[in-house]
Amino acid sequence: MIGNLCFTIFVFFVLIFTIIAATYEPDDPLFHPSTQITNFLTSTSNATFRSDITVAKTGEDFATPNQTVVSSFINITDVDTSSFENAADIAAQSTDCDVGPDTPIQCSDPEVFHLLMKSAIEHFKDIHFYKFGKAVPGSNDTSCDMAWRFRPKEGKTASFYKDYRRFVISRSENCTLSVVSIGEYHSGVNARKRKRNQKPGFEKKPDSGTIQVVGETVNDTLPVVESEKAFRHGKYLLYTNGGDRCKSMNHYLWSFLCALGEAQYLNRTLVMDLSICLSSMYTSSHQDEEGKDFRFYFDFEHLKESASVLDQGQFWSDWNKWQKQDRLNLYLVEDFRVTPMKLAEVKETLIMRKFGSVEPDNYWYRVCEGETESVVQRPWHLIWKSKRLMDIVSSIASRLNWDYDAVHVVRAEKAKNKELWPHLDTDTQPEAILSSLRDKIEEGRKLYIATDEPDTSFFDPLKDKYTTHFLDDYKDLWDEQSDWYRETMKLNNGVAVEFDGYMRISVDTEVFYRGKKQIETFNDLTSDCKDGVNTCTSSS
Ligand SMILES: *[C@@H]1O[C@H](CO)[C@@H](O)[C@H](O)[C@H]1NC(C)=O
Ligand SMILES: *[C@@H]1O[C@H](CO)[C@@H](O)[C@H](O)[C@H]1NC(C)=O
Ligand SMILES: *[C@@H]1O[C@H](CO)[C@@H](O)[C@H](O)[C@H]1NC(C)=O
Ligand SMILES: *[C@@H]1O[C@H](CO)[C@@H](O)[C@H](O)[C@H]1NC(C)=O
Ligand SMILES: *[C@@H]1O[C@H](CO)[C@@H](O)[C@H](O)[C@H]1NC(C)=O
Ligand SMILES: *[C@@H]1O[C@H](CO)[C@@H](O)[C@H](O)[C@H]1NC(C)=O
Ligand SMILES: *[C@@H]1O[C@H](CO)[C@@H](O)[C@H](O)[C@H]1NC(C)=O
Repeated sequence: MIGNLCFTIFVFFVLIFTIIAATYEPDDPLFHPSTQITNFLTSTSNATFRSDITVAKTGEDFATPNQTVVSSFINITDVDTSSFENAADIAAQSTDCDVGPDTPIQCSDPEVFHLLMKSAIEHFKDIHFYKFGKAVPGSNDTSCDMAWRFRPKEGKTASFYKDYRRFVISRSENCTLSVVSIGEYHSGVNARKRKRNQKPGFEKKPDSGTIQVVGETVNDTLPVVESEKAFRHGKYLLYTNGGDRCKSMNHYLWSFLCALGEAQYLNRTLVMDLSICLSSMYTSSHQDEEGKDFRFYFDFEHLKESASVLDQGQFWSDWNKWQKQDRLNLYLVEDFRVTPMKLAEVKETLIMRKFGSVEPDNYWYRVCEGETESVVQRPWHLIWKSKRLMDIVSSIASRLNWDYDAVHVVRAEKAKNKELWPHLDTDTQPEAILSSLRDKIEEGRKLYIATDEPDTSFFDPLKDKYTTHFLDDYKDLWDEQSDWYRETMKLNNGVAVEFDGYMRISVDTEVFYRGKKQIETFNDLTSDCKDGVNTCTSSS
């Protein structure tokens, strides 16, 4: 009886996903459901779904960096050293250099600026520099802070990164300046500039083609409607209820982007719920956890700057204030089969799509199926990963000087399940990893190990050949003293935020992707298939 029911549900899922596969693939080349779906269809168990804790792909993963921009980094030969040499010459000519070694360093002096740029370019060999900010005074008379924009030399991702560091400078007897030391990642806090003031409000012209800059200050305050007049003239779309809550992050995005796509198609402001439910698959309590903020995981600043969105709370309070006197109307849609095209002529201020309680017809993404598919595009470029999380990634990579190799070791539940992954356990034993890496990664290299193995001492034998690094070595980046902790707590109304399972996987994976060499578990370490026996496809 139960078995039958399970099978029915299974068939149901297969059916839905077949439909998705059939209808979504051609129009959304950014998303590749086909491989996931093939894996799922050929999988012999329900383990596939339960173990789908992969990091959701977002817009910046699909963006290809503009080669013109990427190749226009600042070469050391571009840093004009002539004025610096002239200054030194002049100093040398004047027999007694008239400033003593104790005179404060003038950070605004071009000579100092050139010196700092030159030493930064020489010191950080594995990154390319794109822009230097002015040098400003540091903590005392002998230090200066300077900011710059960079990318890793071997980076595949489209993002830029911002760093600002503290330089300690010394002046010798004959007035020559030299850099004594360069501080750690983001140590030059005086050179950290606030971003240009954003315009308040929520109606935005679509803007694409911008690139995420990790390390900039984040301002992701909720947008506000300035006036009753602006509110009255707005048109809104709101999705409510449905079965999408507490599902995997991939499911969440797939549905959310459908709503956002429809709002863009209808030229309406999307009224969204920033409070999301984190699925038990990512939580340490193994329970679904409500009350997580969209901004913990995604870049809301980018979203609000490039699309018209409003938070539900703000919207309803304005609606209740003004709905009666302004005679604002609501148009309710309770059937997902009512296409966006049919709603194009609706004049009501608010279109509210209400979803039922029966899965899978109550999934938001069903709105975007069928003929809608060719009309409404999912705006992937609007969704980026949280800059706060990416800043942790950037900090880790910077501490490793952007010069490390990485190996991804999947173990945990899969290694225990010999039926589906017969060789995984043996293939991911430290000795087996060492022998797999022998021809691939040189001895002595820094090796970042991204893994779900909770006991990292398991990998101790690798220390004979490599300097190993794990996510937990960088705990200070999210502990109580960290920027991340302080900022997320502020977002969360003063309540501390747990660095949860999704964040961990997300950061671990992103650090892995920034390694110079990347060795995967499946294909590289083992010939077992990612989703269990006989699920290997040529593309995964
Ligand atoms: C599928 O899930 C059910 C319930 O969660 C479990 O009892 C069963 O063993 C699973 N089947 C397989 C093949 O893993
Ligand atoms: C790349 O950037 C350059 C300079 O900003 C711009 O002129 C060019 O159109 C861009 N190319 C693409 C494909 O966006
Ligand atoms: C940077 O300068 C070096 C030395 O002059 C030169 O060989 C190299 O091609 C330059 N690279 C770029 C990207 O301009
Ligand atoms: C100035 O600050 C730098 C960095 O904070 C420090 O290393 C140096 O010792 C300080 N110098 C003096 C004279 O206090
Ligand atoms: C100034 O002194 C430093 C050592 O203190 C020396 O390396 C440098 O060559 C001198 N420069 C000139 C122009 O004399
Ligand atoms: C953040 O942006 C909003 C407008 O979107 C602005 O009103 C607010 O002052 C900004 N906050 C900071 C700290 O810059
Ligand atoms: C949305 O606005 C664009 C440009 O203003 C217009 O071409 C399009 O027809 C509008 N769409 C709807 C559904 O009103």
